Amino acid sequence: MTSTAEIPDYPMTRAKGCPFDPPPALQAKQEEGPLAKVRLWDGSTPWVVTRYAEQRALLADPRVSADITRPGYPSPAPLNGAAPISFILMDDPEHARLRRMVTAPFTIKRVEAMRPAVQKIVDDLIDEMLAGPKPVDLVTAFALPVPSLVICELLGVPYADHDFFQENSKVLINRDAAPEQRMAAVGRLNGYLNDLLGEKLANPGDDLLSGLTERIKTGELSQHDAAGIGVLLLIAGHETTANMIALGTLALLENPGQLALLRDSADPKLVSSAVEELLRYLNITHNGRRRLALADIEIDGQVIRAGDGLIMPNDIGNRDPDAFPDPDRLDIQRDARHHVAFGFGVHQCLGQPLARMELQVVYSTLYKRIPTLRPAADLEEIPFKHDGSVYGVYSLPVTW
Ligand code: HEM
Repeated sequence: MTSTAEIPDYPMTRAKGCPFDPPPALQAKQEEGPLAKVRLWDGSTPWVVTRYAEQRALLADPRVSADITRPGYPSPAPLNGAAPISFILMDDPEHARLRRMVTAPFTIKRVEAMRPAVQKIVDDLIDEMLAGPKPVDLVTAFALPVPSLVICELLGVPYADHDFFQENSKVLINRDAAPEQRMAAVGRLNGYLNDLLGEKLANPGDDLLSGLTERIKTGELSQHDAAGIGVLLLIAGHETTANMIALGTLALLENPGQLALLRDSADPKLVSSAVEELLRYLNITHNGRRRLALADIEIDGQVIRAGDGLIMPNDIGNRDPDAFPDPDRLDIQRDARHHVAFGFGVHQCLGQPLARMELQVVYSTLYKRIPTLRPAADLEEIPFKHDGSVYGVYSLPVTW
């Protein structure tokens, strides 16, 4: 058994010069076995689950809880009495009840119907970029506006307010932000969504939030819970995809052979396999899936006790050589569809069909329309989000 003095701090640090790879200390733990103890900011020592098969088994196990308010939950930061942001941090049956209310717009059929509109958003933003000065920051000119415009349209949130919600969600996903700052940001976002729901209760439109007002009217849903769902979808809907667009582009620019394959192909199958591989390889959610064991669970001869915290970093799961041969190589032709970049089990990403479609449109358009696209800064000068629970780059200067 590991002595407490040897337990490493979590999260672990990435190696300098390897911005796309998981921390070496986590890779070393994976080689030793599927389970290890780590120490969090509050001195607690949950398990970190390093291998793909064990991560999937535990994420699908009904004996683990995602309820952040339970004592012993391995929270990434002090909670200070703050309520969880909607159903992502709740257990069934309440999780399932709330999730069901918003599944319809994220079905593959409904998402596919949005593809032409997303293609237009992408084309228009590229037109603007090409007409403007160079170099340009790809994050502000392209990577953030694409998913923000899409999620605003879907939810019925005015895009004109994007500075407000982007600033507040930036605070929320910054793990160095003080608890008071984070609570204030949640409060502002909740208030904003609450006001918007109030307007839509009076004047409903053809959007997801207006759909929720119908449920408020029937008493199925409180306005407070509807605002929480709105905050969750607004944040999850733009932050993650934006980071996949910018970081994915940088990873391709750093792997010119892979970029050329994608750029020179007209095969939609290659585009979707590139999307899956980049999701696997970059795995931008960096806090790990956090859970609490509700019963004793035996894994690999080791008993996880009821009340033990569990962290499943999907970035290391996606680099498990038993699941993905030669895992540290970016190979857009491999079949990576079984990755865990969208999590696994009942909390598996609700927005994945939308994220996939947006990334397919972006990756099949941007490099064809700007074939000479290249970074306008050295890799060492690019600011990576080492302090974020969603990984990516703060800015990416590009030219062509
Ligand atoms: C590339 C983009 C994305 C990535 C990598 C991603 C990743 C994830 C992951 C790992 C989870 C699981 C959380 C857990 O198990 O604790 C999750 C859940 C979730 N995601 Fe995404 N996501 C992306 C895009 C989106 C989009 C576009 C939306 C939609 C608006 C969205 C909405 C959600 C929601 C609502 C949940 C909670 C599901 C539940 O608890 O039942 N995500 N996402």
